[in-house]
Amino acid sequence: MELIVANHPLIDHKVSLLRNKDTSSAEFRQLVEELVALLTFEATKDLATEEIEVETPVTKTIGRRLSKPTPLIIPILRAGLGMLGGITQLIPDAEVGFLGIKRNESTLQPETYANRLPENLEGRHVILVDPMLATGGTLNDSLDYAFQRGAESATCICLIGAPEGVEAVRGHLAGAWPSRKVAIHLAALDEKLDERGYIVPGLGDAGDRLYGTSGD
Ligand code: URA
Repeated sequence: MELIVANHPLIDHKVSLLRNKDTSSAEFRQLVEELVALLTFEATKDLATEEIEVETPVTKTIGRRLSKPTPLIIPILRAGLGMLGGITQLIPDAEVGFLGIKRNESTLQPETYANRLPENLEGRHVILVDPMLATGGTLNDSLDYAFQRGAESATCICLIGAPEGVEAVRGHLAGAWPSRKVAIHLAALDEKLDERGYIVPGLGDAGDRLYGTSGD
């Protein structure tokens, strides 16, 4: 598993605005879309392309287009939905599958309440999006669903990660899916998890910040 933490002034600037407790939901949603687009640019740099012939107003030339099938994008509901627009604006042809996973706030264990992934992902590349990589439980279950359906490789785009979550995913993959290629892209790697499983310093509950709610 490869971990890539963005180190870029624009990303650092926008993450600091996201963290601010006084940032409104409207501004928060806009920042999330912008951050996802910036992270997607780097996270998709190895996507397969193929040659195409293009006729410009001047002459014929050889260009490139994304090979089919394009990656399957999987937002993890609820908060991952806030990241979908930022990625589909860059890959408009991508298919989208949905996973609904909520964290049981007493046990901190993930509970799946919706799974709308295609049954067959043989040979496919998937891009999982979820803003917070906290304990790693949700991401591990999501990777399991994708790999059990035959997906070959996965890119995970998260905004903020905790070291505990990164290590939990690394350990899970080494034991369960040692041959699958997985990259995790983060805008920031934070300090730790607190006793409630929140990322410190983090930004609070990403779903609540996105949708202006408190609780689920
Ligand atoms: N989920 C969130 O939304 N925030 C955290 O800090 C941890 C998990």
